[in-house]
Amino acid sequence: MYSQVIDEQPVSSDELNAQEALFQEKIDNDIKIEPRDWMPDGYRKTLIRQISQHAHSEIVGMLPEGKWLTRAPSLTRKSILLAKVQDEGGHGLYLYSAAETLGVTRDEMYLALHSGKAKYSSIFNYPTLTWADIGVIGWLVDGAAIMNQVPLQRCSYGPYARAMVRICKEESFHQRQGFEMLITLCKGKPVQKAMAQDALNRWWWPSLMMFGPPDADSVHSAQSMRWKIKMNGNDELRQKFVDVCVPQAELLGLTIPDNKIIWNEEWQQHDFGEVNWDEFYNVLKGNGVCNRERLKARVDAWEDGAWVRDAAKAYAVKRQRSSSL
Ligand code: 3HC
Repeated sequence: MYSQVIDEQPVSSDELNAQEALFQEKIDNDIKIEPRDWMPDGYRKTLIRQISQHAHSEIVGMLPEGKWLTRAPSLTRKSILLAKVQDEGGHGLYLYSAAETLGVTRDEMYLALHSGKAKYSSIFNYPTLTWADIGVIGWLVDGAAIMNQVPLQRCSYGPYARAMVRICKEESFHQRQGFEMLITLCKGKPVQKAMAQDALNRWWWPSLMMFGPPDADSVHSAQSMRWKIKMNGNDELRQKFVDVCVPQAELLGLTIPDNKIIWNEEWQQHDFGEVNWDEFYNVLKGNGVCNRERLKARVDAWEDGAWVRDAAKAYAVKRQRSSSL
C-alpha cells in the first residue's frame, strides 16, 4: 500500500515471535522505537494512520480560523491569529515529516486526504460563525488537543514523540490566547458575553467528540495503548477535559450547555451528559456542515499550487544539468 518496500528477509514464525517479543519489551521499558528499528507491520500502519490523520487535522484546522484573519477586530488580534494559523501549518509539516520516516510519501498522504480516504478531526467540519468562535476554538479545541497530545510526548515512536514536544508548547500558547480573548469578551458588553455563550453552546459537544468514540467502540485503542502509540483511552481524556473546563467556564461566567454536569463526590470527577454519537459518525461519513467545503479548499489549494511544484522541479532539473556540465 505504501511506497516503501520494507527490506525484510523471510523469517520463520518462531523468529517473528521472538522479534515481536523483543520489540514489545523495548516498548514496555520505554525505549523509543526509531525509524530504522524493526517494527511489526501493524505498528507501522497504525502510526502512519494516526500521524497522517493528525497532520491532516492540523492543516485542515487552519481553514475555519483562517477565514477570520481579515475580520479580526484589531491589529493585535490579527497578528496573534496569523501566528496561530501559521503554527498549525508548521505542526502539519512536522507531522508529515514524522510519518515520512515510516516509508509513506507526502504525495501519498495528500492523495489520501484529497480523495476523502483519510480522516481528519471531526471538529474542523463545524463553521466559525462569529469572532467569539475564535476564542472558543482556542480554549476548547486547542485545550482538547493539548489534553490528548501532552501524553503523546511520551509515545513509543521517537520522531512522533519529539514532534509532539514542540507542538504542545505552541498549542499551550494557543489555548491561553483563546481563553484570554474570552475573558475580554466576557468582561465586555452584554452582547459580547452573549456571543461568547453562543459560541460555547455550539462548540462544547463537538469538542468532546474530538477524543474519539467511547472506549467500548474504539477499534484501535487497546492495541495502540499496548504499543504506546496512544497513552490513554478516549474516555479517560474526555473526562479529564470536562473536569478542567468546568471551573474555567465558571471563571468566565459562562454556562456549559449540559444540565447533567454535576460534581460526583465518590468518583472525584464531574458526571456529564451523553455525547450525540450519531452526529459524530455522521460527520465522519462526510456529512458535517463543512466537510465538502473543507475538502474542496484543500484540493483547490493543491491544484492551484501545481505551477509552483512544476517550476521548482524544472529549476531543480536545470540546476542539476548545469552542475553536471
Ligand atoms: N475525528 C475524526 N475521526 C476520528 C475522531 C475524530 N474526533 N476520533 C476517532 N476518529 C476515527 C479514528 O481515526 C478511527 O478511524 P480509522 O480507523 O478510519 O482510522 C475511528 O474513528 C475509530 O476511533 P479509535 O478511537 O479507534 O481511533 P484512534 O485509536 O486512532 O483514536 C484519536 C482517535 C484519539 C483521535 C487518536 O488518533 C489520536 O490520539 N490522534 C492523535 C491526535 C490527533 O490526531 N488529534 C486531532 C486533532 S489535532 C488538532 O486538533 C489541531 C490543533 O491545532 C487544534
